[in-house]
Amino acid sequence: MNEVLIEGERLRLRRATAADLNYIMTLQFVPENVKFIVPFDENYHRAIINSDGAQMMDVIVEEKETGQAVGYFMLRKMDSPCIEWTHVIIGRKRLGYGREAMKLLMKWSFEFKDFHRVWIDCKDYNKVALHLYESLGFVREGFLREYILTDGVYENLVVLGILDSEYFGIGE
Ligand SMILES: CC(C)(COP(=O)(O)OP(=O)(O)OC[C@H]1O[C@@H](n2cnc3c(N)ncnc32)[C@H](O)[C@@H]1OP(=O)(O)O)[C@@H](O)C(=O)NCCC(=O)NCCS
Repeated sequence: MNEVLIEGERLRLRRATAADLNYIMTLQFVPENVKFIVPFDENYHRAIINSDGAQMMDVIVEEKETGQAVGYFMLRKMDSPCIEWTHVIIGRKRLGYGREAMKLLMKWSFEFKDFHRVWIDCKDYNKVALHLYESLGFVREGFLREYILTDGVYENLVVLGILDSEYFGIGE
């Protein structure tokens, strides 16, 4: 039985299993995805999947209606109050799945798991992802200059975060 984190209108977020490894690896290396992330190798993902899930988790986004995987992301630092989301990828793009999946993930992070803060980093030219995160309430917190070396070129990262008080609208 797959471990379900949360379900929404069209999507379900569930913990990845070994049967998802192929999907995760393939999705990461699609050219339009890989340029925006730093992919990990299969053994790394296998270790996460086989772990107790207390610190890191690979998560599959799937359509409720078809049961088909439509995306993937990773959760890190789950043993701290400040969870990190990373490797956010939606395979079936521009259907609103990214927005629905991120909203579900915020609900799970703040309402179900009581995290204090969610943060994420994003390449500074990734306009689509930055638009999505900021429209969901993430705030730009930092700028890491020439932080990642990709094919011989140093790239900048934007750090974005949202606090539980901001999510719940407290203190406005
Ligand atoms: C970023 C990503 C997850 C968004 O997923 P998605 O399901 O395509 O996004 P949605 O359909 O929910 O759209 C979210 C918003 O982005 C906009 N958008 C999506 N793709 C776009 C594009 N190619 N050009 C312009 N705007 C776009 C949508 O119009 C929507 O904005 P709105 O709700 O204000 O109208 C997806 O594009 C992706 O996997 N990209 C490659 C990997 C990546 O960049 N990951 C993030 C790493 S930090």
